[in-house]
Amino acid sequence: MKKNIGSKLALYPMPITVVGAINGDKPTWTLVGHIGIIGHDRVMVSLAARHFINEKIKETKKLSINLVDERILPQADYVGSVSGGKMDKSDVFAYEVGDAGAPVITDAPLTLECSVLDVYETPNFESFICTIDNTYVAEEHLDANGKINYNTLKPVLFEFPTYQYLKTGEVLGKCLSFKRKGSEE
Ligand SMILES: Cc1cc2nc3c(=O)[nH]c(=O)nc-3n(C[C@H](O)[C@H](O)[C@H](O)COP(=O)(O)O)c2cc1C
Repeated sequence: MKKNIGSKLALYPMPITVVGAINGDKPTWTLVGHIGIIGHDRVMVSLAARHFINEKIKETKKLSINLVDERILPQADYVGSVSGGKMDKSDVFAYEVGDAGAPVITDAPLTLECSVLDVYETPNFESFICTIDNTYVAEEHLDANGKINYNTLKPVLFEFPTYQYLKTGEVLGKCLSFKRKGSEE
């Protein structure tokens, strides 16, 4: 039997992202690891309730989820170190406003522009349940069929227990290509 180390948040590594929202006529940015997928048409962004960006998201009901690659990791790390309530973070990234009204980081390899449907509250946290309005991808990361190529788009991963960033690894195989051991087919 493996050792039981108790109730731990242990589902890592996972992609680190920068969440953006519009604050008046400027954007604000927050580094977020706790992003999830719900079904096939919803995503979830889990934020500490005290964060500056939360009220902006609630006001506009729009947010962006920007994947982070190694090129923008230094700026991404910075927006996780200081609150927009204390320091204006609007000029950390070049951006454009997406078709649905959320700020899209120009140099992020991929951005989901989202509408907020609901907020799921847990003690000290607000998790924003969103639909995806638009997906913006740097052309260099689209293959000949227009699909996202994750062999070139290398999202930075993060893990909470030791607070580190990691790289993605190599391809291990196609999904559903592993036959049951001993089976003929
Ligand atoms: C690696 C890393 C991951 C983080 N992930 C989250 C997260 O998933 N949820 C969250 O609420 N804050 C997370 N934070 C903390 C916020 O990014 C940080 O407190 C930020 O300054 C809040 O900014 P704001 O007050 O302008 O919204 C993370 C910080 C780091 C460094």
